[in-house]
Amino acid sequence: MVERIARLRNFIADFTRLIETAPAEPRVLDRGGALLVDLVSTDDWLPDECAVPDRERYQQYLLHCDPLERFSVVSFVWGPGQSTPIHDHCVWGLIGMLRGAELSHDWDPAAVHRTRTTRLDPGMVAAVSPAIGDVHQVENAYGDRTSISIHVYGANIGAVARHVYRPGGERVPFVSGYSNAAVPNLWDRSAAVRAALPARA
Ligand code: FE2
Repeated sequence: MVERIARLRNFIADFTRLIETAPAEPRVLDRGGALLVDLVSTDDWLPDECAVPDRERYQQYLLHCDPLERFSVVSFVWGPGQSTPIHDHCVWGLIGMLRGAELSHDWDPAAVHRTRTTRLDPGMVAAVSPAIGDVHQVENAYGDRTSISIHVYGANIGAVARHVYRPGGERVPFVSGYSNAAVPNLWDRSAAVRAALPARA
């Protein structure tokens, strides 16, 4: 028996190998993006406690942080119609759509003009970074249901000093934190190990 969370555990193992062997951003976005497409193409693994919307604001559940803080994995849960402020990341990021849909409105680096809007549907992945475009605003594409995207960032993103932008481009310091106090237990593989034990006489 393979437990539901095995898909996330395998993704984290693959991403750790990638960061260990090929940490340059273009390679991480390319190869890591392919890993994330694979992860979000099947919606059967996200722990229920990391899929709960909040009436007031979107939620950011930490799923995993690399022990050396080289990357983190977060589930973003958007209640109906919820959106972020205009913000940046200051590190690379990959955004994979798991459930529902979202709209990413890209802004110019000074956050004065909107430059492009991209819609993400399940199985799709987008990237951000200071090198390729880092300022955007994200919203749930649906006004009547929850949407969930899985994000990977090149740092412990909840503890990164970054910025939100007010209309007109004023930059305000911002540290996002996380919505959860405990991360999912990836490591209870006991059921599979027990099932593989030889039958007792
Ligand atoms: Fe973002």
